[in-house]
Amino acid sequence: MRIASIIAAGLVVSLAVTAGCERNQDLSFAKDVKPVIDEHCSNCHAKGQAGYEVSGFASDSYASLLKGTKFGPVVIPGDSFNSTLVVLIEGRADPSINMPHGTLRELRSEEIDIIRRWIDGGAMND
Ligand code: HEC
Repeated sequence: MRIASIIAAGLVVSLAVTAGCERNQDLSFAKDVKPVIDEHCSNCHAKGQAGYEVSGFASDSYASLLKGTKFGPVVIPGDSFNSTLVVLIEGRADPSINMPHGTLRELRSEEIDIIRRWIDGGAMND
């Protein structure tokens, strides 16, 4: 009885570890996430541009993405749903502050999905 439950517990742990690895294997910050951010955010969220000057959020590097705005982080590693960055690109905030601002097109659902999976996988710099 006890041995069986120890084996069962071990199996659950190894399944969970495998699942965790698989989720991230196909996603890289540099190759997948950064290009989406560069295309949609970096025109405004760079030094001298409106998005950065007002909010303090620069989107040009891993470090600045994780640092967030002058009020705090917008990425919560492991929790895309509650990450401000995702709230804004999914249009869950007030329309006046959804990102990207202005007349730029919204992100495609595949692009949003890349960012969500990256954050849920721990927002690693890889
Ligand atoms: C056309 C310019 C523009 C683009 C493109 C843009 N932003 Fe912004 N962003 C702004 C401005 C301006 C602000 C300052 C606050 C405001 O006016 O809503 C801001 C504010 C923010 C904030 C801070 C919100 C807060 O709660 O203080 C975040 C986070 C943000 N942007 C993320 C993004 C992301 C992620 C992208 C790309 C998907 C993006 N922005 C694209 C202009 C832009």
